[in-house]
Amino acid sequence: MERAKRKLQHIEYALSTGQRRLHGFEDITFVHNSLPNISTAHIDLQTKIGELSFRSPIFINAMTGGGGEETTKINEQLAYVANECGIAMAVGSQMAALKDERERQSFTIIRQVNKRGIVFANLGSEATVEQAKRAIDMIEANALQIHLNVVQELVMPEGDRNFCGALSRIEQIVSAVDVPVIVKEVGFGMSKETARQLENVGVCAVDVGGFGGTNFAQIENKRREKQLAYFNEWGITTTASIAEVAAEVQRIRIIGSGGVQNALDVAKCIALGASAVGMAGYMLRLLIEQGVEALIAEIHQLHEDLTLIMTALGTRTIADLQNVPLVVTGATYHWLRERGIE
Ligand code: FNR
Repeated sequence: MERAKRKLQHIEYALSTGQRRLHGFEDITFVHNSLPNISTAHIDLQTKIGELSFRSPIFINAMTGGGGEETTKINEQLAYVANECGIAMAVGSQMAALKDERERQSFTIIRQVNKRGIVFANLGSEATVEQAKRAIDMIEANALQIHLNVVQELVMPEGDRNFCGALSRIEQIVSAVDVPVIVKEVGFGMSKETARQLENVGVCAVDVGGFGGTNFAQIENKRREKQLAYFNEWGITTTASIAEVAAEVQRIRIIGSGGVQNALDVAKCIALGASAVGMAGYMLRLLIEQGVEALIAEIHQLHEDLTLIMTALGTRTIADLQNVPLVVTGATYHWLRERGIE
């Protein structure tokens, strides 16, 4: 099956291309606070996206599903980890399972393992209202992610070439489904103009999916004979993207993602304006190379580290962390100046 092979290649190439840490986090520095006047016991990691309440801002971002036994096992393990750690998770694109009944098991397994946790459904922006409803029902999802991945499709030899009408399909889905809709990028970042358009059609949150972590141009280029190398460096870094979107939108929440690997990265996403932070490639690597228990231990460690960082900054809540002073330097500083953001 061609699609199944592609899903497995994505996993293999995501691990082999790795994460180059080009996301801009080194441009962001917290201002040390010598009088934080707080105890670690005061720290509260809860956050909200629309009406959904999360125990932690960290979640497992969309990766896989469809593609047979191997992806079913990965989803089962991710669901187990999410349940054990009390964090939310997204599934990979469910389009395959909407078209072929045999692909459903790799998604439905998630609810068998993680009965009450927060789970996001996932489809591309080619999806219709009817497909969106079926994807949500398939896993009793608490929210729907719609991914935007134009550059990935263009580099993919068998990818889409027509991107007309995406915004209006998203608008129709937002008004027809009864869960919040999150629109996400997949590692190319999101501009403030795009975020504004999405805000105007009523999405609940945008996930910037910034440049600098998993790189789908490189992954798809590995699957081609003739490389489209010019797309390998294409995109808005995670830090620049969160900051410019945060300066633009008023009603919607921001999710930070793209190359997030540790609690300091998480804290910086939040300080730039994110309400939650997604991790994909880093979690997948840990799971595949070290196993379920290692991933669970790492997530506990991330929560502990985030608590220590918030203590050092004197920020009791995620909302407090969104308002700490920051110094922005380097490429992120220049980007924001050029984009008219102070
Ligand atoms: C992804 N990602 C993804 N996103 C999506 O919306 N639907 C999908 O089906 C997939 N599939 C997928 C497979 C694999 C193997 C990886 C590693 C990633 C993209 C993912 O959710 C995220 O946006 C990017 O990977 C950037 O985040 P990281 O990996 O840098 O943390």
